[in-house]
Amino acid sequence: MTSLSTSAPGVRQANFRFRCIACADLSDNASQNFRCAQCRDLLEITYPGWKQNPPAADELKSAWRQRRLSQSATDLSGVWRFRDLLPVLETDTHAITLREGNTPLYELPRCACITGVPRLFAKHQGLNPTGSFKDAGMTVAATFARRAGFRWVACASTGNTSASMAAYAARGGLRSLVLVPEGKISWSKLSQALDYGAVTCQLRTDFDGCLRLLQELVLRAPVYQLNSINPFRLEGQKTLAIELLEQLDWQPPDHIIVPGGNLGNSSAIGKALLEMRDLGLISRLPKLSVIQAEGANALVRTLREAAGKRLISVHAETRATAIRIGNPASWKKAAHVLEETEGACEQVTEVEIAQAKAEIGAEGIGCEPASAVTLAGLKKLLKQGFVKPNETVVLVLTGNLLKDPDFTMEFHRGDLFKDTRDEPASAALNNLRRPPIVLDAKLEAVIQALEQAEKP
Ligand code: F0G
Repeated sequence: MTSLSTSAPGVRQANFRFRCIACADLSDNASQNFRCAQCRDLLEITYPGWKQNPPAADELKSAWRQRRLSQSATDLSGVWRFRDLLPVLETDTHAITLREGNTPLYELPRCACITGVPRLFAKHQGLNPTGSFKDAGMTVAATFARRAGFRWVACASTGNTSASMAAYAARGGLRSLVLVPEGKISWSKLSQALDYGAVTCQLRTDFDGCLRLLQELVLRAPVYQLNSINPFRLEGQKTLAIELLEQLDWQPPDHIIVPGGNLGNSSAIGKALLEMRDLGLISRLPKLSVIQAEGANALVRTLREAAGKRLISVHAETRATAIRIGNPASWKKAAHVLEETEGACEQVTEVEIAQAKAEIGAEGIGCEPASAVTLAGLKKLLKQGFVKPNETVVLVLTGNLLKDPDFTMEFHRGDLFKDTRDEPASAALNNLRRPPIVLDAKLEAVIQALEQAEKP
C-alpha cells in the first residue's frame, strides 16, 4: 500500500466550497470522512459565487439545449451537460464519463388507470450505463477522486453503488474496493463489481455494518470513499431533477416520489429543486416525497416519533435489498428537503412493493423492487388525500429490472412469500403472476397455452 497517494481528498477550489449542514462552517477542503472539522456533521457543496453573480436562468437553459447538438464527451453526458450547476473541472477532458444521465421520462398509462392519476410519469434512472441512478453521482465523485490524486476508491453498498463505482473506477484507471453484506445483495449487482475488476469483500454483516467499517477504513488507509456521504456524489445526482424539469419544459410537476434508503438521492433531488428555484429556473417547488419499505423505515419513524430531530435507527429487513438500510447517513439532509418542499414520508409493505413492481413491469418498463416503492407509496398518498388525482406526479425509478431477477422469478413462480407471514395477503396478487409454462415441444400444447391465456 506504500505507493498509494496520501493526499487529502480536498481539491483545488474553483467555484465551490464545502459547508457543514449543521454549523454552516465553510471550508476549502474536506477530511477523508467528509465530516465537519468543527461539529462532525455532514458536508454539502455550496457555490458562493451564485450570491453576487447568479447564472442567468435563460442563458443556462439555452446553453444546455445547445449542448445537446454537440459531440464532445462532456456534452454527451446527461450529467456534465449541466456542469454550470456542478463543481467545475479545469478542463472538460478530465471527466470520467460513460454517457450517464440522458434517461427517459415515460408516461405510465396502465398505472395511471390503476391509480386514477392521468398525468403519471416515470423518470427511469435504471437506464443509466450500469443500470441505476448511482452513475449520475459516480461520474462526478470518481472524477474528483482522480483529480485529488487518489489511486483507490471504496464504498459500502447494497449493490448498485458498488457496481457503479467499479465501472467508473475502471474507466478512470483507479482501483476499487467494494464492501457488501454477504448474502444480502443480488447476484446481478455482485457480478457487475466482479466484472469491472473491483476487489470485492462480502462482509458477514449488514449494509450499516459495512458503512461503519468503511468510515474507519478511510481514516486509516488512503482510499477515497464514494458513498453518498461524499458530497460530490449528490452534486451529480442533482442532475436527475434538472434533466427532468427540462423534459417537462420547465413546468414543475406537483409531486416527485423517490425511494429512500441511505437517503442520498432524495437529498440530492431536493437540493437541485431548491437551487433551481433560487436561480429562477422554476417558479415553484414540486413536493418531494420519500417512500421506504416498512421493514427499513428509519426516516418514517424519525419524522413521526422524533419530529425529525434525532435519527431513530432500525434493524432493516426487506426483500427490496437495495434499500435494506437501518441507519441512513443522510437522514438530516433528507428531512430538510422534505420540510422545504412540503413533501411526505410513507412506508409500504412487502406485498405492496411486489404488486407495484409487477404493475410497472406490465407497462413494458420494469424496475427493481426498491424502485417500485414509489408506485406503492403513491397509492397511499392518494388515499390520504396528500396527492390529488388531477395533479402531475413523477415516480423516480432508481434501478433496472435486470438488477434483481431472483425477486421477479420468485414472484411469478409464486415462491416470493412462501412460508412467510405475508403469504395469505399475497394471494391477492395471483392475477399479476405470469409463471413460465413448461410444455412438450408440440404445436397443440402451445395453442392450448395461448387459448388459456385468452381466458378472462
Ligand atoms: N433504489 C435503488 C435501486 C438503490 O440502489 C438505492 C440505494 C436506493 C433506491 C436508495 O437510494 O440510498 O440514496 O436513499 N442503494 C445504495 C447502494 C445504498 O449501495 O447501492 P438512497
